[in-house]
Amino acid sequence: MNTDDLRQLDRRHIWHPFTPMKLWLESDPLVIAAADGMHLIDSDGHRYLDGVSSLWCNVHGHRVPEMDEAIRRQLGRVAHSTMLGLTHEPAVLLADRLMQIVPKSLKKIFYSDCGATATEIAFKLAVQYWHNTGQPRKTEFVGFTEAYHGDTVGAMSVGRTEAFHKPYFPLLFKVHFSPTPFVYRSEFPNDPERVKTECLAALEKILQEHSATLAAICIEPIVQGAAGMIVHPAGFLREVRRLATEYGVLLICDEVAVGFGRTGRMFAAEHENVEPDLMCVAKGITGGYLPLAATFATQKIFDSFLGEPWEGKTFFHGHTYTGNPLACAAALASLDLFDKNNVLENVRSNVDAFNDFALKKELRHRPFVGDIRYKGTMIGIELVEEQKSRKRFDPRRRVGAEFCMRMRKRGVILRPLGDVIVIMPPPAMGREDFMQLIDAVAVEMSAMETWI
Ligand SMILES: Cc1ncc(COP(=O)(O)O)c(C=O)c1O
Repeated sequence: MNTDDLRQLDRRHIWHPFTPMKLWLESDPLVIAAADGMHLIDSDGHRYLDGVSSLWCNVHGHRVPEMDEAIRRQLGRVAHSTMLGLTHEPAVLLADRLMQIVPKSLKKIFYSDCGATATEIAFKLAVQYWHNTGQPRKTEFVGFTEAYHGDTVGAMSVGRTEAFHKPYFPLLFKVHFSPTPFVYRSEFPNDPERVKTECLAALEKILQEHSATLAAICIEPIVQGAAGMIVHPAGFLREVRRLATEYGVLLICDEVAVGFGRTGRMFAAEHENVEPDLMCVAKGITGGYLPLAATFATQKIFDSFLGEPWEGKTFFHGHTYTGNPLACAAALASLDLFDKNNVLENVRSNVDAFNDFALKKELRHRPFVGDIRYKGTMIGIELVEEQKSRKRFDPRRRVGAEFCMRMRKRGVILRPLGDVIVIMPPPAMGREDFMQLIDAVAVEMSAMETWI
């Protein structure tokens, strides 16, 4: 079908996620027709670097022969079979493989199919763990301001933002919000240690007052992605872990965005040697090929669910496509490629290159660049109207969105978070493509003066 017909049919039928549809209906959407390595290709044959990993999930690029072959091989066996009452080889082998690389505290894996289900499962496991161990009052959570854990009701409860979730506030359960250590937007933008200390003091106060009713603290470790690539000050996560233990509250690490190499380690919690009680992964687990998620738990949590069927300890939760065999086969192939292609080392060397580049090209001093924050190749560049006062642009100008639309003419697909330009290439992106990507961003930053 030709591009215009596809666009017309799209506008007629489809309601797009996280999309102001009024604007969409007035636009001519880009139609992706194919892909090749680190590039997406539109229906007119134009090539674009995939600068946000197809929404933070692609790891090794597109149409990777080993990945394609693993899925084809599994297709020749079985595409889907349930995990309710049955098991299958790809899920078992993947579990065994993952157990060798997740933090040592984690001993059991519960499969599901997206980030929101992975976090929702962690919340339910936390509440039922306390129920099963005779502390049924422990049902509340601590979340961090501006956190994001997905769009189901539990995930929205713990990761709510006014902009996304206001109409649903009456549906959400009780959560105590602790301030996020967002150094750039704090009162002390040049003093990360002070910001960290104050945020930890606020967290401790919540724990002192409410530990008797708290089930868990949930955190996006090291980088709070959807809030605008907020990188927490060093040592923050370690202290959160210490406080959770001290006050008898579980720690849930939501590694949905940061997991599978994006920060330069397989899991972000590794940066601070943190061992969570529950950990959620999704997005990058299949290399960005197919929907799969997992929630990991400690042996202690798992054991509390053991009992006779009539004792009410069972975890009555599951999804139809939980542990889908094709997705598990893709995930196994992805893990092979991490080793074969030294993907974590690639991320670390791209970070060094970005560091040099940001300094040399003085990205930091471009007139509208407020803050550059990154861990691994999760990069956020916050655009501001005025650097000194950190004054934001009027959100109605949609400066971040305009910037990203212009990047398409430079052969790059990006998607902003408000006025934060997100650069999150697939962890396996080679140096040449990576430099081309960040160079294109820098050139558009210079060009901003002509259109702002
Ligand atoms: C930290 C975090 N948790 C959970 C989610 C939800 O994942 P999904 O979109 O797969 O439901 C996201 C998505 O961006 C995320 O960044």
